[in-house]
Amino acid sequence: MKVKRFGVSLEEELLKELDKLVEENHFPNRSQAIRYLVKKSIVEEKWQGNQIVAGAIVLVYDHHKRELLSKSTDIQHDYTDLILSSQHVHLDHHNCLETIAVKGHANRLIELSDRLIGLKGIMHGKLVMSSTL
Ligand code: NI
Repeated sequence: MKVKRFGVSLEEELLKELDKLVEENHFPNRSQAIRYLVKKSIVEEKWQGNQIVAGAIVLVYDHHKRELLSKSTDIQHDYTDLILSSQHVHLDHHNCLETIAVKGHANRLIELSDRLIGLKGIMHGKLVMSSTL
């Protein structure tokens, strides 16, 4: 991809905030920080506008709760058009970590994620909102 240079004028205080962001996120330079912020804003707009997006649903739960497992499977079978893959890792004797990669209209991904994360027995759940490009 062709990279173009342009000048940016910022108030001193805002520039300080940008440099703080560069430092805290270990960005190599200001350009990378600006790239990150622009991309983040585009991704947020796509999710808000119900566009086709991609992401991952992360779930942590105790696999001894059998009812939770069957409910989670039932729900996932209602959204097979969205689910690209799922990975199950056994963290320890009790706990499992499931990562479900998803792609589709933002509203339906949120709906799927809400249904899964809302299941009784889920200890932690998070939807990572990303984009397809
Ligand atoms: Ni497991």
